[in-house]
Amino acid sequence: MSFRLFEEKDHASLYQQYRLTPANELKELILQYLDKKKGPPHELVVDLGCGTGQNTRLLAPYFQKVVGIDVSESQVEEAKTVPGFTNITYRAGPAEELPFPDGSVDLLTAASAAHWFDAEPFLKEAARILKPRGCMALFGYADNFTLHYGSCGDRLSNIYEEMKKVLLPYTSSKVAVSNSKLRDLYEAIPFPDKERIEVIPVKEEVTVNNIVGLLKTYSTFQAYHRADPQAAATLIESTMARFLQEMGVSSTETKLEIRLEYFCVLACKPQ
Ligand SMILES: C[S@@+](CC[C@H](N)C(=O)[O-])C[C@H]1O[C@@H](n2cnc3c(N)ncnc32)[C@H](O)[C@@H]1O
Repeated sequence: MSFRLFEEKDHASLYQQYRLTPANELKELILQYLDKKKGPPHELVVDLGCGTGQNTRLLAPYFQKVVGIDVSESQVEEAKTVPGFTNITYRAGPAEELPFPDGSVDLLTAASAAHWFDAEPFLKEAARILKPRGCMALFGYADNFTLHYGSCGDRLSNIYEEMKKVLLPYTSSKVAVSNSKLRDLYEAIPFPDKERIEVIPVKEEVTVNNIVGLLKTYSTFQAYHRADPQAAATLIESTMARFLQEMGVSSTETKLEIRLEYFCVLACKPQ
């Protein structure tokens, strides 16, 4: 069963604006893994649960062909609006039924998405379409990020924690799979050559607007918004106001540091 929590057009447009592009550290780790395990040629990468294409676009310079796939038509339509990437195509469809011949894909990625997939059929499809020595990289970041700005970082992180508490009742059971850093999915991968890196620390500079926008993309926030649009709007307004007040600034374009912990499952199909 596909979890259809990312379908609305407004949600897709928030994704385009606010989702974080995966950190350079992740991209390097994945490309180095592919080079070590399989090497060239880099013909085809498939990015599953591509959303509005942040990870898909990042991979474009390194492969002849890039295909982004997402079960949500709105996400795919939004991804297609970004110009300038002639080797990328996007398709709507589920990760559990992939439109590629056997043994045709060099690399399969999923950024903050694999926890939504139905593990058994997804892994069966992954094993079918990967080339011998083809690789899989499933990654995401923990929701325990911290915020840093002068001496008020702890208070900013606390505001974020308080917001998370409000959203907790709206958490899908699938979010637990991400919170476990894909432990069970990793165990279920039918390749002996695999590894799971639990913490890849990353620092990034973002604006207050980016942080609040990112929170709006969360499936938990979207569920809260569906249940009570007024309360959800108030939560966003008050979170923004509290961030600005703690920082002692008025511009939502003020930059602060976000410290994230990525996790990554890497696996290589046998020869
Ligand atoms: C949290 S978003 C991540 C999007 C993007 N990769 C990113 O990093 O911003 C998860 C995405 O997975 C998609 N998704 C969920 N279940 C799926 C499935 N079974 N097959 C394909 N895509 C799926 C959703 O529609 C959504 O766009």
